[in-house]
Amino acid sequence: MIRPITPDDTDALIALSDATGLFGSKELEELVEVLSDYFGGNIDRDHFWITDDDDGLVGVAYYAPAPMTDGTWYLYLIAVRPDCQGQGRGTAMLRYVEQALTARGERVLLVETSGMESFERTRAFYRKCGYDEEARIRDYYKAGDDKIVYRKVLAAPVLVVNNDTEALANASSNPIS
Ligand SMILES: CC(C)(COP(=O)(O)OP(=O)(O)OC[C@H]1O[C@@H](n2cnc3c(N)ncnc32)[C@H](O)[C@@H]1OP(=O)(O)O)[C@@H](O)C(=O)NCCC(=O)NCCS
Repeated sequence: MIRPITPDDTDALIALSDATGLFGSKELEELVEVLSDYFGGNIDRDHFWITDDDDGLVGVAYYAPAPMTDGTWYLYLIAVRPDCQGQGRGTAMLRYVEQALTARGERVLLVETSGMESFERTRAFYRKCGYDEEARIRDYYKAGDDKIVYRKVLAAPVLVVNNDTEALANASSNPIS
């Protein structure tokens, strides 16, 4: 079940994040602080953490608005426990995020990842989920390690009228790429 996280999830979230191998020990410590701020209400309320709970936490995602934009959001983190990868869980969490944002009338979701060969499966995941490579910043993370920005335009809600489908008013300003 995909659901928002609660304070009781903290230890399991840290263990899950550790298991993904994406975080070093310093970053895990920062994550503890971020979660503490989140649960303490010290972070903008438009920041969201969700988890995939299947008799224990097996996935996590974190998304928040891109500063100084109108309706553009970042997926800052998505990860699935290694022994549960490749079962559709990452796709389901990403769909959950997209649907939550679309329901709020948000426009664009961005996600960044590395251009290194070792991240090819991660990039394939985003492409399969409908994300297009929008930008590449060469040598961003370190020399030879580019940052790639993927972008997806969030679909406008559809209104059914007389057996016909008609996009809601905001659709015209939100073309689907
Ligand atoms: C990337 C990630 C979130 C995808 O979630 P997932 O549940 O494994 O992916 P899904 O089952 O929904 O989708 C499967 C597709 O994702 C891609 N994929 C990426 N990493 C994969 C992995 N470790 N195992 C299986 N598929 C993976 C493949 O293209 C796969 O399609 P295929 O089965 O046709 O080869 C997850 O694999 C993960 O946590 N990886 C490590 C952390 C990471 O890279 N996070 C992104 C940070 S930038």
